[in-house]
This record gives sequence, C-alpha cells and structure tokens, in this order.
Amino acid sequence: MKMRPAGTVLTFGTFDVFHVGHLRILERAAALGARLVVGVSSDALNISKKGRAPVFPQEERLQLVAALRCVDAVFIEESLELKRHYLTEYGADVLAMGDDWRGRFDEFADVCRVVYFERTPAVSTTAIIEKIRL
Ligand code: CTP
Repeated sequence: MKMRPAGTVLTFGTFDVFHVGHLRILERAAALGARLVVGVSSDALNISKKGRAPVFPQEERLQLVAALRCVDAVFIEESLELKRHYLTEYGADVLAMGDDWRGRFDEFADVCRVVYFERTPAVSTTAIIEKIRL
C-alpha cells in the first residue's frame, strides 16, 4: 500500500456528469493527505455560477463522489463565500483545486497549503453536454 502524508485535504467542485478529469483530480488531491473531503457545489450555487442547473441533482452528485475509494467525506457547498468557514470546519491542511482556479484561492494560504493541479486535457462537463446535444 502506498504511504500517504498526514493531514486533511479539501477540494471543491460540481462534479456533474462525472468524467475522468474529475477522477484524476480527486485521486491526486487524495494523495496529498490522509483524508480527502470534497465540497460538492449545490444546484443553486451552480445556477448562480454557471447560469444553468447541473444535469444531475446535488444529492446524486454527492452520492457518486462519496462512493469513490479516494474520497473520505463529502458535504454540499452552499456558497462560494463560505470557503474559509469550510476550511476551518473540516480542519483542512491542504486546499487542492484545478488550475482553472489558479491564484483565486491564494488568500487562504494563512489557513492551509493551497495547491493547484493541471486540468486533465480535452474533457469537461460542458464539452460532454455539447457533444451529446449534437
Ligand atoms: N477538472 C480537471 N480536469 C478537467 C475537468 C475538471 O482537473 N478536465 C477539475 C476542475 O479543475 C475542478 C474539479 O475538476 O477542480 C471539478 O470541476 P467541475 O467544474 O465540476 O468540472 P468541469 O468538467 O470543469 O465542468 P464545466 O465544464 O461545467 O466547467
């Protein structure tokens, strides 16, 4: 078994129409600590952020992410403004995000280490929806 460093890692995302880019970032985030906690964005947050409702409702997205071997706990992220609160509440040692968010979470460096991962190329929920729609 691979040794994992100590500590809690937090990451956030919608994880709608679950794809391999999602799996890769969760696996890489999990490798940074002993425990991976995932904040799954609420339906309401997505509507305000992306201007559309997710394909799968929040309870189903939450269940899918929770069932992954690399994920230890999940919660619904209700607001972008609550990041600092979630980091403290879950005792995060590391915040891991895709590099589409690069620099946007540096303000939390006083609470935990902030890590940005390169996105997996050529896959996204938006692209999958477009492809299916055609
Ligand atoms: N992610 C990734 N590689 C991809 C797609 C997403 O590493 N190809 C990461 C994002 O950077 C984020 C997490 O997965 O940290 C959740 O991303 P999310 O926004 O839910 O997925 P997207 O596929 O980017 O969705 P959309 O197309 O709706 O923006």
